[in-house]
Amino acid sequence: MDDIKRLSFQYFDDHANEYTEDYYLSQQTHPKWVRQKSIKKLILKHINPSSGSILNLGCGPGLLEEELADSAYQGIGLDSSPEMIRLSNERASFKKYKDKWKFIVGDCERTGLQSSSFDCLVASGLIEYMPEDRTLLDEAYRLLKKDGILIINVTNILGWSTCLNRLTYHLKRIGVIISIANFIKLNIFKEKVRAKDLKFIPRKHRVKKFLKDSKKHGFSHIYSEYQGFTILPAPFDIIFNLLPGNLNSRLEFLKDTPLRYFGASYLVALRKRTD
Ligand SMILES: C[S@@+](CC[C@H](N)C(=O)[O-])C[C@H]1O[C@@H](n2cnc3c(N)ncnc32)[C@H](O)[C@@H]1O
Repeated sequence: MDDIKRLSFQYFDDHANEYTEDYYLSQQTHPKWVRQKSIKKLILKHINPSSGSILNLGCGPGLLEEELADSAYQGIGLDSSPEMIRLSNERASFKKYKDKWKFIVGDCERTGLQSSSFDCLVASGLIEYMPEDRTLLDEAYRLLKKDGILIINVTNILGWSTCLNRLTYHLKRIGVIISIANFIKLNIFKEKVRAKDLKFIPRKHRVKKFLKDSKKHGFSHIYSEYQGFTILPAPFDIIFNLLPGNLNSRLEFLKDTPLRYFGASYLVALRKRTD
């Protein structure tokens, strides 16, 4: 297994609980919620809840499934982390949608699931942890039915906070800086978990190239939007996420302006072509 894939698998499995708490549950203004809202909107627009089958690759703690179950959608959540799958199952039992969603441990690049069996695939916050794009795109194409839709996001290499990522990666390695960041997180903002020390740098994409490559893999583009207009990358974005006024979320309006090209993330919906 390539290094980035192995290290990220280990990271998410080891930190499943705190990742869920830190990024999703304790920060309702975190950009990940903006992404989830847009994904749900796309699904509502393109997939019929009574007949459409959905596969969420890299489902994490199953929060998208929870929202989709509320709108009567069903499907499968797949994640390589047994701990994430345990959290997803726990949530589904607690919120009573286990009859609609099944959660399985698996590798998004080799799911072993039946070909042409899904109307919609979601791969959100996932491809940047794979060593390359080709294998995941091929697997997505194989799994989708004719005219099925792949909703996927990539990290925009030209994004403002993406550019700062490399800097914060190195800053986080300086003991005193990470101690100060943790002090602020835990004591001032009353966060429950410390800043995480990634042992790898997730990949970033040139958006135009990704779109071009997806075409070569048999997909056509049906929708896209830039997202993630945080002023600073994590964990330093916490300053703006938790301050009154919710500045990071308010900046999302930039997606409709020429400054959109500086969004950290690019969400795209692709249709499987069969011609
Ligand atoms: C950044 S989280 C994204 C979670 C969720 N999709 C979201 O958008 O909030 C990445 C997830 O992908 C999972 N993952 C990493 N490598 C994977 C692989 N090879 N196959 C399946 N899931 C994987 C991780 O365990 C983690 O739950």
